[in-house]
Amino acid sequence: MSDAPILGPVNHVVDLSTASDFEKKHTPHIEVDRKGDKTIATVTVGFEVVHPNQPDHYIAWIELYVDGAGIARFDLSPVATDPTVSVIISADAGSMLRAIAHCNLHGLWAAEVVL
Ligand SMILES: [Fe+2]
Repeated sequence: MSDAPILGPVNHVVDLSTASDFEKKHTPHIEVDRKGDKTIATVTVGFEVVHPNQPDHYIAWIELYVDGAGIARFDLSPVATDPTVSVIISADAGSMLRAIAHCNLHGLWAAEVVL
């Protein structure tokens, strides 16, 4: 099994409008829907350009952080699950939500939004 290092550098695309398809298919896409004091966050890896979901190439996990604190982790199985996860968050408006995804071949990819 050839897994990318999970402690390696985190890839971060600043401007998705000028990103390559390779970057687009790995960068987490974060949607937030604020409902009172709760926020529904949905993270999709491969939003604009679909990432492979095969036994030898897939998104292995997605982690979420609010202001640097880990709040959720999803371990994904290839083929059986798509790399889209949702979670309900209790956090103050203005908090920073960060998603980190791990591709088993291409390592760590991150994106952030302000809640
Ligand atoms: Fe990949």
